[in-house]
Amino acid sequence: MIILGINCFSHDTSACILVDGKLLAFAEEERFNRDKHTKRFPFQSINYCLETAGIEVEAVDLVGLAHKPGLDFTRAMLDILRRLPRSWRRLFIQPAVDLSLYLKKPFFRLAQGYTGKVVFVGHHEAHAAAAFFASPFDEAAVLSIDRGGDYLSTWLGVGKGNSLQKLGAVRQPHSLGEVYAAVTDYLGFRPNSDEGKVMGLAPYGDKTYFNKFKRLLKSDNKGGFKVDLNYFTYYLKQGWYDANFISQFGPKRLKGEEIGLRHKDIAAAVQHVTERTGLGLANFLSKTTKSKNLCLSGGVTLNSCMNAYILKNSDFEEIFIQPAAGDAGNALGAAYYLWHCVLGNERVEPMAHAFLGPEFSNEEIQAALETRGLNWQKLDDIENQCARRLADGKIVGWFQGRSEVGPRALGNRSILANATLPETKDIVNLKIKKRESFRPFAPAIMEEYAADYIDDYYPSPYMLLVQSIKKSLRTTVPSITHVDGTSRTQSVSKQTNPRFWKLIDSFRKESGVPVVLNTSFNVQGEPIVLTPFDAISTFKTSGMDCLAMGDYLVEKDQ
Ligand SMILES: [Fe+2]
Repeated sequence: MIILGINCFSHDTSACILVDGKLLAFAEEERFNRDKHTKRFPFQSINYCLETAGIEVEAVDLVGLAHKPGLDFTRAMLDILRRLPRSWRRLFIQPAVDLSLYLKKPFFRLAQGYTGKVVFVGHHEAHAAAAFFASPFDEAAVLSIDRGGDYLSTWLGVGKGNSLQKLGAVRQPHSLGEVYAAVTDYLGFRPNSDEGKVMGLAPYGDKTYFNKFKRLLKSDNKGGFKVDLNYFTYYLKQGWYDANFISQFGPKRLKGEEIGLRHKDIAAAVQHVTERTGLGLANFLSKTTKSKNLCLSGGVTLNSCMNAYILKNSDFEEIFIQPAAGDAGNALGAAYYLWHCVLGNERVEPMAHAFLGPEFSNEEIQAALETRGLNWQKLDDIENQCARRLADGKIVGWFQGRSEVGPRALGNRSILANATLPETKDIVNLKIKKRESFRPFAPAIMEEYAADYIDDYYPSPYMLLVQSIKKSLRTTVPSITHVDGTSRTQSVSKQTNPRFWKLIDSFRKESGVPVVLNTSFNVQGEPIVLTPFDAISTFKTSGMDCLAMGDYLVEKDQ
């Protein structure tokens, strides 16, 4: 049985393929078309999935599209009618949105020449399935927190074996993701893209606005929360926030305006209520399900500080966060939902890693290097050679194996640097990433040593938990330690990424420290590189010192 899962709902379109319940391939369209958070139908991802499975589209038994247009329409229209006349714009927008969603089914059939069955799967059911069925747990509480999908912002449920049961939901416009996106816009960043910047800014702020923000977003302790809609306009399709918001918190930060204390305090406040609201939802699930396992998905669960706060403060002992927690993950969720919940098949295997995208052979890499006229060396110890260069303070582009799915580079399309040197952060920023100076860089740490460096260490293979670096070691790894002593850690396993593990191990032998700085292989505003040609372009136009692709090493000063 072959199932193709597709997310073509809105942004971050993607596709995956399940063969008898086994995940063979999973990729995001932005990596192919180079348009970050793309909304384009994911034809290139679909073709990649079919090629990986070695089949033509006719061989697919079932296609899942991760949205449910009818549901969305009914729920949204009821809300729009209740809020007239303020919501009048949406009276026209909503039918158009739903029509476009309905049309995706015939559009896919026509474009691919597919005559088999195509099924719509609910947005949050897809998020929930992507978290639970990918997890190693036989049973777990499941929480999806989002901006919105099928007119729900939040979905609470429980997974057991091959089933998912809904226990509650929060309807839009009450949405944690929308509030966070609104504040992202208010602080002069790009909503639905730069939320991580707000999270990175938050530790610089203090409690000044905590109480005011708590009044904007209130948990009901029954698995729900309410947003004070008098302060926001996102649900009216008229910008993000109301004049009331401005009168409470002051003017919006303009593009290029210096970040002041007020901006930092507002970032701290929205992060504070996000963490408390997330914990409130998790606590409800903990009480209701009595499970010790929690699965998270939905765009808000890319907030690694919130995830860590929930793990630390709830009764849950184990956590699994879908690495493609945003809407890209819903391709997988739709496929899993059909395989397990609709067809009733048993679990096959958990998702062991996120390296599910395209890979390129040494021959393809060499051909790309020659086409671009670069001098290269072919090495049989590329890990040792790169570790030595990292120890010397060089910045290394690291391109290996299959590309990662999800927004984090996990050691196959990464830029690596020496975390022990205090100047590394500024150098990587200045030469390559051109990011705001307040944003932290993340560490990749060998899992065998992680507990030595991290307080209350919990495995974080997908860089989705912020954890505290032990006080005594913060000066050992200054470039990856944030202002509050935390770090968005990635624990690296020899089993799932042997080459990256070996590189860090070689660096450990050089420097005594089993940690490297790991940031995504891209420049600001671009998707993570996918092909050797993408990597070469980014290498050439940025300040990286070396590029390691497969067994090939290119050095800039040669
Ligand atoms: Fe979503």
